[in-house]
Amino acid sequence: MSYFLSLTRPATHLISAIIMPLLKNIGHLATCRDTGNQSDIHPITNAVIVWKDDTIEWVGKEGELPDEYANLKEFDAEGKMVIPGLVDCHTHLAFGGWRPEEFTMRVKGESYLDIAKSGGGILSTVKATREASEDELYDKARGFLKEMSGLGVTTVECKSGYGLSLEHELKTLRVYRRLAEDQPMHIIPTFLGAHTIPPEYKDDRQGYIDLVIEEMIPAVAEENLAEFCDIFTEESAFTIPESRQILTAAKAAGLTPKLHADQLTSCGGAELAAEVEAASADHLEKISDKGIEQMAKAGVVGVTLPLASLYTQEEPLNCRKLVERGVQVAVATDFNPGSAPSYDLPLAMMLACNQGRLSPSEVLKGATIYAAKAIHRDYKIGSIEKGKSADFAIIDAPHPDFWMYHYRGANCIKSFIRGKKNSF
Ligand code: NIG
Ligand code: FE
Repeated sequence: MSYFLSLTRPATHLISAIIMPLLKNIGHLATCRDTGNQSDIHPITNAVIVWKDDTIEWVGKEGELPDEYANLKEFDAEGKMVIPGLVDCHTHLAFGGWRPEEFTMRVKGESYLDIAKSGGGILSTVKATREASEDELYDKARGFLKEMSGLGVTTVECKSGYGLSLEHELKTLRVYRRLAEDQPMHIIPTFLGAHTIPPEYKDDRQGYIDLVIEEMIPAVAEENLAEFCDIFTEESAFTIPESRQILTAAKAAGLTPKLHADQLTSCGGAELAAEVEAASADHLEKISDKGIEQMAKAGVVGVTLPLASLYTQEEPLNCRKLVERGVQVAVATDFNPGSAPSYDLPLAMMLACNQGRLSPSEVLKGATIYAAKAIHRDYKIGSIEKGKSADFAIIDAPHPDFWMYHYRGANCIKSFIRGKKNSF
């Protein structure tokens, strides 16, 4: 057979069948579309979702399902609630070792800062992370992702920041690249070279800042290893002028700024986030009134991390004062081996209700569409709408209020990531 003839034959063996299933019998569908109001989850009762491969095709009431979708493969939500796949927009996912002794020290009354000053804290994880191989970090992080997916999480932002040298920062970011390529969750990588000053630069702060700006940021941008550049802006970490210098360089290299801001002291981190047009400012327990105003004006998402406040025994952020003044508030875990050694996003949501004063509907938007905004992915994930990624979770609760009220850790019955039943 000639080459030409073989091309004109219908190559049916090459066309893979389009997969178009539907999920029916959804008692309460929280679409979480962005209506401009944090408490409006835009619910639909007795709903159906149809998707084609990895993309949502149709969403609506069961009675209005178009005939063309009548004979599709069906999944049954058995009258439960369905939500968009949860988005954890702030984690430090890949790290070596653990720090359980610090937990016990804090329980007995020592502070997070005192423990860091006496040789524990971030630097002890830096040592363990430098000693770990790329494969070891990969296997451990992949294990966390599997557990997170069982909670209904389908997207995870992942920071570096425990390498603090060119070699080990790139090693961590390459772990995230591999995870993005060979497991089902959406992975969003963030460079956090400015997490703290590493021991070899303890007498040369500017030397480390220069290394971040002149070597690390260009290498990360060159290899396209991160989309965001985060920084720990704090009196005990990087000052406002230092943070401005690093974030300005990151922006020039094409990385979008993010900040750990106003966690332990009110030092102007939120104001700087507004100035550099950061995607988000996170923590914010000590945010000033001026900071709130400027974040609202600049459209910077505020990310609350209630697990970190709980584990460090600090006063939690009152999120109401942000929402009431026009800041969209996302909720994330801050999962890391020190200040927040838990990746339980629904637990963080429950705390954001009980301690952060958000309603269950507000935290649901905070862990879906506003979390997606905090990582510039709201065009693709975070709500159940036609054209978005088919990521959703079936939750064993009739509505968000009951879910948060009778929180029990195991409410996620089943989840779909990119249209496929959780395939970990
Ligand atoms: O987000 N605030 C700085 N960094 C992390 C803590 C990291 C650690 O304790 O290892 C945080 O809380
Ligand atoms: Fe953090």
